[in-house]
Amino acid sequence: MTINRRQVLQASLGAAAALPLSLETGWADDGFLTVTARPTKKKLYLEEAPASNIWTYNNTSPGPEIRVKRGDRVRVRLVNELDEPTSIHWHGIRIANAMDGVSGLTQEPVPPGASFDYDFVAPDAGTYWYHAHTKSWSQVARGLYGPLIIEETEQVFDRDHDLTLVMDDWRLDRDGVFDAASLGSLRDWSHAGRLGNWLTVNGESLPKYALNAGEAYRLRLINAANARILEIDPRRFDAKVIGYDGQSLDKPQEPEADRLLIGPAQRVDLMVVPKPGKGFSMEEISSDQSFAFIAFEVRRSSAAAPVAPSLSVNALREPDIADARVLKLDMTGGAMGNFGNITHKGRKLATADIRATGQVWAFNGTANLAEDPMFTARRGETIVIETKNDTAFPHAIHLHGHHFRVFMQRDDGVATLGPWRDTFLIGPDQSRKIAFVADNPGKWLLHCHMLEHAAAGMNTWFQVT
Ligand code: C2O
Ligand code: CU
Repeated sequence: MTINRRQVLQASLGAAAALPLSLETGWADDGFLTVTARPTKKKLYLEEAPASNIWTYNNTSPGPEIRVKRGDRVRVRLVNELDEPTSIHWHGIRIANAMDGVSGLTQEPVPPGASFDYDFVAPDAGTYWYHAHTKSWSQVARGLYGPLIIEETEQVFDRDHDLTLVMDDWRLDRDGVFDAASLGSLRDWSHAGRLGNWLTVNGESLPKYALNAGEAYRLRLINAANARILEIDPRRFDAKVIGYDGQSLDKPQEPEADRLLIGPAQRVDLMVVPKPGKGFSMEEISSDQSFAFIAFEVRRSSAAAPVAPSLSVNALREPDIADARVLKLDMTGGAMGNFGNITHKGRKLATADIRATGQVWAFNGTANLAEDPMFTARRGETIVIETKNDTAFPHAIHLHGHHFRVFMQRDDGVATLGPWRDTFLIGPDQSRKIAFVADNPGKWLLHCHMLEHAAAGMNTWFQVT
């Protein structure tokens, strides 16, 4: 069997499911939710395809949806039933450093058979996710991730109108089975990362959801892919953007361009009010042929006219641009780029070292974590990072422990600060400037969330004292 979109589109969609119920599993009496990482068999492709060997949290990928309210304490006991060490990172949470889950920087990896207790407060409402942060390029590709939803203190959308959509592209082989053999391929590492050939939503192929006409819904889109930038056009179904990377906007906005790019690890919250009698689909439009990967069926509803929910914005400290410390981040390396001039573990790499080290990308000439941080910030200091992409590929750069604003160039040339984000996209030969207040003490990563790029060098760290 080969993976072919047309064949797939002809395959019948199952009966429309109601909104998926929360996958929340019980919190034990001690307040801990146990999340067990283990190998599991799961079908990723269509009915007739065999099951794949993937890795899951509590036997599902995505793992259980963890849902709490802003300001709540989150307690998760990670149990490792894999045969290699692992750890969990709570992506986008402005978390206490010791709970950030970065093995080798904020904690020792959890060995096979052992467990680790994560215990933190979720300061902001929004759409977040959690994922393995030990050999992430392999562990996340195999399925170790799940949604982390922090609800507003005062409910904005009720549970029937709040839908989490975790999207992932899997690389399947000719039998429609997860392709583990190609994990770690130097070609992926030095090009666009590991791109898949099949898209699932909440672990399902071509799901169908039923919505009521005339009622407002929040769709929480989470891109859990290793490297794929997903592209959708929310205008095709009259949706507005209400949040990016877990941070709510103050009011619904039209997307800025005719395609909304959702880079690896990025989240977008959309608001949609389905029109009576009109089903619609969500399409991935990055290739020339658009691919409808979610179908929405619209039911008649007796509800009155929709009430536009009033959004609730988190309180984040605004960067003080006039008083900022300005740093530079140059991205180099990769295929068709400049492999040379990369320092790794204090040593200049020769071309012959590439195969042995797998290091082909660099931030400011250095591949992966050096002994010293890229910079040390005083707590409360505003940091501006001027980034420049001198490579032939796009990147999705993620800052741990903080949210930042990206400078935007208006048509009249004036620079303004864009929405809060924790991951930003930068295309080949582009420059982007970000600003944030370094107000969270500890050691934090700054890396490309195309996970092969991070493993192959696009990874550094900074410190807030
Ligand atoms: Cu989503 Cu360093 O990770
Ligand atoms: Cu990258």
